[in-house]
Amino acid sequence: MIGELHQLRQLCWVLGSIGRILAIAYTRVAVLSETKLHIDGKAIAQQIQAEIAQKIAEYRSQVNQVPGLAVIMVGDNPASSAYVRNKETACRRVGMQSFGSHLPSSTQQAELESLIDQLNHNDQVHGILVQLPLPSHLDAIPLLHRIHPDKDADGLHPNNLGKLLRGEQGLRSCTPAGVMKLLEHTNIDLAGKHAVVVGRSILVGKPLALMLLAANATVTIAHSRTPDLASITRQADILIAAVGKPEMIKAEMVKFGAVVIDVGINRITDYEGNSRLVGDVDFEQVAPVASHITPVPGGVGPMTVTMLLHNTLWSFCQKYGLT
Ligand SMILES: NC(=O)c1ccc[n+]([C@@H]2O[C@H](COP(=O)([O-])OP(=O)(O)OC[C@H]3O[C@@H](n4cnc5c(N)ncnc54)[C@H](OP(=O)(O)O)[C@@H]3O)[C@@H](O)[C@H]2O)c1
Repeated sequence: MIGELHQLRQLCWVLGSIGRILAIAYTRVAVLSETKLHIDGKAIAQQIQAEIAQKIAEYRSQVNQVPGLAVIMVGDNPASSAYVRNKETACRRVGMQSFGSHLPSSTQQAELESLIDQLNHNDQVHGILVQLPLPSHLDAIPLLHRIHPDKDADGLHPNNLGKLLRGEQGLRSCTPAGVMKLLEHTNIDLAGKHAVVVGRSILVGKPLALMLLAANATVTIAHSRTPDLASITRQADILIAAVGKPEMIKAEMVKFGAVVIDVGINRITDYEGNSRLVGDVDFEQVAPVASHITPVPGGVGPMTVTMLLHNTLWSFCQKYGLT
């Protein structure tokens, strides 16, 4: 009798375990089938750019003026040249004026300072951007600080970073602002969610952490000295990778159903010898685990350019009191 009871208890335990496994499998399939997996940064960027173009056309008739963006580039770094071309093309597409200054790599710090001073005083220029990195003999920080804070299209001037810290209106850094717009357009509610940002650069990680905090997320910042990174990233409802290490975020580092935003842009040569762009997230591995994920290319990248246009338009509107 005691033996039969024991067998019955074992059977119940086995059935219970099968039930639990089936329940987990069902939930996972349900989550996957309900969600739109890929966040299409290109489509969202196009939509925002069309809105910007429409506003510029309206404002032109009101104040007989259009916003202008000046991009300063020094040297001939091929990646930078491609980014600058992209920015200038986007500018023209939405009806902005583009004031490109493409200077030789021998350009001196004093020449750049005087160019920034001229652009600061030019009434047709509403946004100024210094394309980084600069050749090694130049010091980027004093140049970024020299741009008038009201024309700081990249949102990297200490005044604007200070306003972000204080939660005041101001120009926001383009890439993190682009990430926030992607989340907003995808209707991801951030309030009370645990956001983990991997990377703490002044360009991406730090301002993004502040923006997520302002949106009421609970924020953790991880970096190269963070021990057991996977134990932190696995806690994330929203996981953002801004590291610059090809495909370092693997499936086992991601909580099931997390929103994964990949800021990284890394050029690699694959095993067939082809060169291609990949992010900081191993897309193939992580996509089945995530509820939403951005691809590379076509995720965060198009949003960075769009936020540059957005910032230049914002500065223009501030100047003319347009809403
Ligand atoms: N999509 C876009 O438009 C766009 C715009 C800007 C940048 N990006 C890309 O985004 C990536 C990051 O750019 P960034 O300018 O922020 O780079 P960065 O200045 O080099 O900063 C990288 C950050 O990653 C951290 N890190 C490095 N190795 C790590 C590791 N093994 N584990 C955890 N953290 C680690 C670093 O930590 P420490 O601070 O401890 O060194 C640092 O904070 C790059 O791929 C860049 O090309 C894309």
